[in-house]
Amino acid sequence: MPDTKPTLLQLLALPKVLPDAQQRLEKRYHCLKLWEADDPNQLMRDHGEEVEVLLTSAFHAARAALIDQLPNLKAICSLGVGYDSIDIGHAHAHGIQVSNTPDVLNDCVADLTWGLILSTLRGMGHAERFVREGKWESQLATLPLGRRVTGKRLGIVGLGRVGLAVAQRASGFEMDLRYHNRRPRNDVAWTYESDLLALADWCDILVVATVGGPETRHLINQRVLESLGPEGVLINVARGSVVDEKALIEALAHGTIAAAGLDVFESEPHVPEALKALDNVVLMPHIASATLETRQAMVNLVVENAESYARSGKVLTPVPQ
Ligand code: DGY
Repeated sequence: MPDTKPTLLQLLALPKVLPDAQQRLEKRYHCLKLWEADDPNQLMRDHGEEVEVLLTSAFHAARAALIDQLPNLKAICSLGVGYDSIDIGHAHAHGIQVSNTPDVLNDCVADLTWGLILSTLRGMGHAERFVREGKWESQLATLPLGRRVTGKRLGIVGLGRVGLAVAQRASGFEMDLRYHNRRPRNDVAWTYESDLLALADWCDILVVATVGGPETRHLINQRVLESLGPEGVLINVARGSVVDEKALIEALAHGTIAAAGLDVFESEPHVPEALKALDNVVLMPHIASATLETRQAMVNLVVENAESYARSGKVLTPVPQ
């Protein structure tokens, strides 16, 4: 019997956290695995016209040049909540639906944000290296004191789903909280600050949880860092592009701000040597959503989106137009 299933092009292998995920896709689709092809360009030339659904992720770019090689593409299903890796405007202009995997990662990203706040203020990275390097016995007096977390003023840039989960966790730390967004939210009681510089000036800890992409590129620039000031701490769990990394390195090196905790970088997986050389920064390899439970939920949701498209012609969790 001829294979009448629609074709789905996979830019990535699904993480092996859900054993039946790939089978579920293959039940509905003829799957083309780009990463397995000897000659990916040839695969695109030979089969690009057949592709109806593209499976990608927050870490695999789906730019206009790729989309244009798939003239019959109808849906892009992306693993991850961020979609700055996709040329959304281009996709929507061509009538292509785009889905992401929102909500299922809010808690884990918020948890890691708090991990970064705690490890940055309390100097936990430095202290851990100190123990491993055998310095405890002989050099304890040289270990710098950390900073108290409880009672600090918390500023959040981007009170979306993740920002909200970060904010909800602040009450146990008796923090005063303000946020900066495109618009104030009418469902929260925290103070809205329309002026980002004023927010940075007011807070002790500035958490960046906004979307990536051109509209937020270098939103956190030298002026914001100067406003945050020499006691201020920057935490970024959003996208590396939101922070001007060169300005941040300067600010950390010269004490313009006190410290930073980063899960994301401008050119991942590249982390500038100048950043790695600094002791007042905690560096994580973009792991905010990397727990077994959350990755299972994300893989399940990306597969559900593809299944939903195959069943009904509509993805389940579309990215807003
Ligand atoms: C996302 O989902 O956008 C995360 O950054 C990937 O873990």
